[in-house]
This record gives sequence, structure tokens and C-alpha cells, in this order.
Amino acid sequence: MKGKNILLAVTGSIAAYKTPQLVRLLVKAGADVKVLLTDSARDFVSPLALSTVSKHEVHSSVHDGSQWNNHVALGRWADALLIAPCSANTLAKLAQGLCDNLVCAAYLSAACPVFIAPAMDEDMWLHASTQANISLLKSRGNRLIPVAHGELASGLIGEGRMSEPDVLLDFLEKFFSKEDNKPLKGKKALVTAGPTYERLDPVRFIGNFSSGKMGISLAEALAAQGAEVSLLLGPTHLQTTETGIQTLRVESAQEMYEAALKLFPDCSIAVMAAAVADYKPAQAATEKIKKQDTPLALQLMRTPDILKALGQQKKASQLLIGFALETNDEEQYAFEKLRNKGADLMVLNSLRDAGAGFGHDTNKVSLLRPDGSVESLPLLPKATVAQAIVQAILQQKNESRVS
Ligand code: CTP
Repeated sequence: MKGKNILLAVTGSIAAYKTPQLVRLLVKAGADVKVLLTDSARDFVSPLALSTVSKHEVHSSVHDGSQWNNHVALGRWADALLIAPCSANTLAKLAQGLCDNLVCAAYLSAACPVFIAPAMDEDMWLHASTQANISLLKSRGNRLIPVAHGELASGLIGEGRMSEPDVLLDFLEKFFSKEDNKPLKGKKALVTAGPTYERLDPVRFIGNFSSGKMGISLAEALAAQGAEVSLLLGPTHLQTTETGIQTLRVESAQEMYEAALKLFPDCSIAVMAAAVADYKPAQAATEKIKKQDTPLALQLMRTPDILKALGQQKKASQLLIGFALETNDEEQYAFEKLRNKGADLMVLNSLRDAGAGFGHDTNKVSLLRPDGSVESLPLLPKATVAQAIVQAILQQKNESRVS
């Protein structure tokens, strides 16, 4: 927990009396802890006790008289938001996105992982509404710390007690040690994905059938290994909401090229999965092109080759991965692209394989390396293919000892 910033939000439950002990354990483990209280939490624990053990002022409302308590800054400061104890009422508010107090505002602003330790009587805990709220919050990536069994505020014995402070600390410690040990922790990665659209006139474009699915899966697989990913995404209705991915939408090959060149110098890994148009209209008409009785000839000019440009400026500390989509003489063309574009790994898609390529949820690829080796994978869901590609990148990274 050393150096971690923990924002502890305490809500109205009898278990709140345990939070000074929780803060003490977190601080002892090396964390910096700031505490927020709801109004009803103040009935169960004193702000003075919490400010004494955390060595920070404790806040309850969005403003204290003339001073605004910046929940956005708090949400960004935190490495983790721990809501403990979390009452049934707060749980419902979080699930609905209500924002009538500082704890809810901090939750909605938090860019960090959120941990929720519920505390309530067994009947409330088992109620269908509470369980539906729990499922919804979990599906949004919040981490639920299991409730304990034992004596409850009502005097009954059952499920619903907040886990003890040492269990909460253990939960956070395990999470951070797993996060900190991810192989791409602290590394930046760039992924291009989707098609590009090259404008012909205000209503038409030249494009292709790429959906962006493979590239988005790759961005997600890299983020799952701890990388901070910039996803340059061409026009598609698909999106990702995974944490660790910043999506930048672009339209044309030129826009993708300019953004990629800007981002590449800070990246350890770049994966070019986009289906970039090789040509664009020499001139995009400013008005709609009207149909004529004679055939229409379009003059096209080359777009920049993004992969090749990055290959030319690649440093020894960077890994560059390209895709090759072929219909014939697949391996020969893919090896030529690997060499000509200066890539470290080429992912070959053949349009001759059923279930592979544009629009499918599955893909069948081969991984080609500069030493001439070819590793062929079976037909797999795109997410699994992405994980296999990221494993190959990690292997290459270890072998070449790139940073
Ligand atoms: N690529 C790129 N910029 C371009 C064209 C392609 O960055 N203007 C990248 C793709 O993202 C992919 C790789 O280059 O990683 C190969 O793309 P592909 O379309 O298979 O090859 P091309 O170089 O366009 O060659 P061809 O169309 O003649 O097969």
C-alpha cells in the first residue's frame, strides 16, 4: 500500500464505528488516506476521530460554508475509492447515479478503481432490490468486498456485516500487488483500428468494411496487461469503455497518420490494426458531385503509410506490430511487408479463411517474425486472438529486452 492514495467514503451504518481502525491500518501499511462522510455516517463515527488518524480534514458536504470541496480533484487524486461501510441507501444511489451528497459526487468523478464494502441487516441484504443494485454495480466494474456473517445491528445473526478492517486492507493489498505486477504497468501503447474514410464530396467517401473489432480487442488486451493505451479509431459504431484506454476518433488516413506520429515517440508498443485506405481522391469536391451520362473517372493519390513511417523512426526500445490482409501468396506478401515497413511482428489474416477478417467475431491469424518463423493460430474469438498476440508481444519484449 506504500504510496497509494486511498479515498475512504463512510456512509450511515453501525459498522462506521470501525473506520478509525480501518484508517489506522491503511496508514500503517503506507497509504495516504482522505475521508469523506455522509451526514448519517456522522451519527455513528466522529469526524474528529477520523481526521486525527488520517491526518487530513474530513469532509461531509460539497461545500463547507464558503469553501467548495472539490470532488473531482479528490476522485482524480485517489488510486482507489473505498466505500466502507456502504449502506443499502448509498448502494441504491450509486446504482442509479444519484448525486445528492459529497460521497455520491466523488463516486461519479472517480477515475480510479472503486471498492464497495456493503453493511446492512440480512433482510435488506437479501432483498431483490439490493441484489439487483449489487449486480448492476459489479457489471460496471466496481469491486464488491463480500459481506460477513455474524451478529447484526438488529441483534439477529446472519449475512450483511461489513467485512472487518483487516479483511478490507487485505483485499486492497491483493488488488494493488496484482496491478503493480502486470507486465505492461507504466508502459504506453498505441493501437490503430477500424477503417478510414476518404472524402469524395460532402456526402460520399471511399472506405472499407473494417469494423475495428480486432483493433479494439487488442487495445483491451494490452490494457488488461497494465498498459496505458491510446486507441486511434477510424469511423465505426463500435467503442470500448475499458479503463486504461483513451480513444481518439479520426476519419481519414491523413488524420490517423498525424495523430500516430505525435503519440508514437512516447510509446513502447505500437500495433497497427487499422485498415487504412491506400488512396484518397486527389481533390475532395466542396459541393455534391452531380451524376452525368458519361462515365466518371476519379483521380486518386496515395495516402501516407503509417506503419512504414513509424518503422522508419522506431527506436531500439520500441516494438512495432503490423497486420497484413492478403488474398493470395499470403506469407510471401506478409514477410515483404514485415521487412519493408520495419515491423517486429506481422499478424497475417487471409481472406481465404472462413470466419476470418472483416466483420466476424472470430479470426484466424499467423504470427510472422523477422527470423522467418511462422506461428499459426486456429480460428478463435477475436478477444482470444488479441490475448495471444499480446502474449507474443510480451515474449518478443522479453527476448529483445526492450524497455
Ligand atoms: N498501413 C498503414 N498505412 C497505410 C496502409 C497500411 O499503416 N496507408 C498498415 C496497416 O495498418 C497494416 C499494414 O500497414 O498494419 C499492412 O496493411 P495492408 O493493407 O495489408 O497492406 P498495404 O501496405 O496497404 O499493401 P497492399 O494493400 O498493397 O496489400
